[in-house]
Amino acid sequence: MQFGARAAQIESGDLAQVLARSLNSRAPISGIWLACTLTVMRMQPKTQLDRQPRPEGAAATAIELSEVSVTFGRGDRAVPALSKTTLKIADGEFVALVGPSGCGKSTILRLVSGLVRPTSGVVIVGGREVAARAMRVGMAFQNPTMLPWMTIERNIMLPLKIVEPFRSNFRRLRKTEFRDKANALLEQVGLKGFGSRYPWQLSGGMLQRANLCRALIHEPRMLLLDEPFGALDQFTREELWAILQTLWMTHKPTVLLVTHDLREAGFLASRICVMSARPGRILDDSRVGFARPRTVAMTFEPDFVALNQKLRAFIEDARSAAEQGAG
Ligand SMILES: Nc1ncnc2c1ncn2[C@@H]1O[C@H](COP(=O)(O)OP(=O)(O)O)[C@@H](O)[C@H]1O
Ligand SMILES: [Mg+2]
Repeated sequence: MQFGARAAQIESGDLAQVLARSLNSRAPISGIWLACTLTVMRMQPKTQLDRQPRPEGAAATAIELSEVSVTFGRGDRAVPALSKTTLKIADGEFVALVGPSGCGKSTILRLVSGLVRPTSGVVIVGGREVAARAMRVGMAFQNPTMLPWMTIERNIMLPLKIVEPFRSNFRRLRKTEFRDKANALLEQVGLKGFGSRYPWQLSGGMLQRANLCRALIHEPRMLLLDEPFGALDQFTREELWAILQTLWMTHKPTVLLVTHDLREAGFLASRICVMSARPGRILDDSRVGFARPRTVAMTFEPDFVALNQKLRAFIEDARSAAEQGAG
């Protein structure tokens, strides 16, 4: 169970308490949650997935949902959020989940992280059933996710202070190797030289870049992103797509991205899953074959626009089916 910790959902006001609990906890903590209002990133050290036996010639399965249904509440108040959803994601894939509001996209991220348990069906992450593992405390940051009293560099190094195997060496390496690691990532996202600044000295877009650095510092195998760029202006968002694409191409984590933005999905993902209205299930699962690195200009080309229109039609149908069902 060294890497088998579970994350708990933590509201923003609990940050200090969570930090204290996490740092005092003797339980090993495998993942750290960076959860701003719009971003949830679950990170597992590489070792966990690397330890899973892989069938020869096939990529290991990172995430598998089999016939998963989730109903929140009971009796008159029961809300069926997901209905018999089946989804398989290979190690290193970049999958985008799109669909009408309230269809259960965030619920899928929460199932994968173990924050929500399936009412029926099975969720397997890194070869193990999520619901079968005990819930332990992870760490969560709500928006703004950087700790204001720490420099950007120290904020980025935070996961190394908490997640094994880095944790044991933190005192020894934080001034040398870990600092270099943080600064190398800062350079990759165009924030070279900003490590000594404080979060309040950075713009929203810069903070999101730093957030990506922190999400990747301990070489996670998995990122769960819940509308991470939703609050940013279009140009900043497009810049961050390119940065996230480069980071993914470099580090190859498995990414599950929830987004409302079909261009964002087409730019970033290698597969796009469209969900039906609540209770959600996967209506369409399309491979996105555009060559990488993709550019913003490509998102205006006919093939890309055609993909967008196809996805939009699915979502519109799902919405109108839901409205008719409700009416
Ligand atoms: N903890 C909860 N209790 C009750 N209902 C919930 C809870 N979490 C989500 N829901 C409901 O489940 C449905 C799916 O939610 P969610 O996964 O957040 O949707 P999405 O992310 O696709 O917008 C919504 O109708 C939402 O109101
Ligand atoms: Mg959501």
